[in-house]
Amino acid sequence: MKERLTIALPKGRVLRAVAPILARAGFDTTSLLADDRTLIRVDSARDLRFLLLKPDDVPTYVEYGAADLGVCGRDVLAERSCDLYQPLDLGIGKCRMVVAGVVGAADPTGVPRVATKYPKTAADHFARRGVQADIVHVVGSVELAPLVGLADVIVDLVETGETLAQNGLEVREVVASISSVLIANRAAYKLGQDRIRPLIAALRAAVERG
Ligand code: PRP
Repeated sequence: MKERLTIALPKGRVLRAVAPILARAGFDTTSLLADDRTLIRVDSARDLRFLLLKPDDVPTYVEYGAADLGVCGRDVLAERSCDLYQPLDLGIGKCRMVVAGVVGAADPTGVPRVATKYPKTAADHFARRGVQADIVHVVGSVELAPLVGLADVIVDLVETGETLAQNGLEVREVVASISSVLIANRAAYKLGQDRIRPLIAALRAAVERG
C-alpha cells in the first residue's frame, strides 16, 4: 500500500461542490482550489494528493489503483462496468436522468430514435420497458437532436430544467435520480483500512453536518 493517499476528483461543477465537504472533513483545500492548470494538488498536512480529471476518467483511475478514492456521478458509473466500492453518497451533484421530447409532440409510432451522451443507460432503460429503441450517441448539446430531426427523444441529465425549457422540450419519464458518490479501489480499501476508514468516516460526518 502506498504511503500517500490519492483522491481523484472531477474538474468543474462537482469540484466546487465537493470542496466545502472536504474542508469540513478537515482537509486543506487551499492547493485544490488554486486557480492554475496543475493536475496534481497536494494537502501536505494530511499527506494526501488530489488528481484533477475529466469526470468520465475518475472511475478508470480508481479502478486501476492510480487513485485510492474518487468522486464520481452515478450517471458516469451507470455507463461503465467498474469493479469499485461505493461507500458514501455525497449528496451533491443532484439531478435526474430523464427521457425528454419536444413539448406537445406525439410519441413516435415506430421504433423511437433516442439521442444521448449515455448510450448504455438509455439502452438499459428502454430494454427494461420492453421497448425497442434506436440509440444515437452524441457527446453534448443533446437537446438539439429532437429539434432538427436527429432523434425523436433524448435521454439526458436535468438539473434546473432551464436547458429543456429554453429549447422547447419537456420531461416524458424519469430514468434515475443522480448524485455524486465516493468510490474506492477495492484493494486499497481492504489493505489501507487504517487510513481510508477514518477518512470516509470524516467525510460522512461532513456530509451529515452539511
Ligand atoms: C448538462 C445536461 C443538460 C444540462 C442540464 O449539460 O446534459 O444539457 O446540463 O442542466 P439544467 O437542467 O440545469 O439546464 P452540460 O452543461 O454538461 O453541457 P453539454 O452536455 O451540452 O456539454
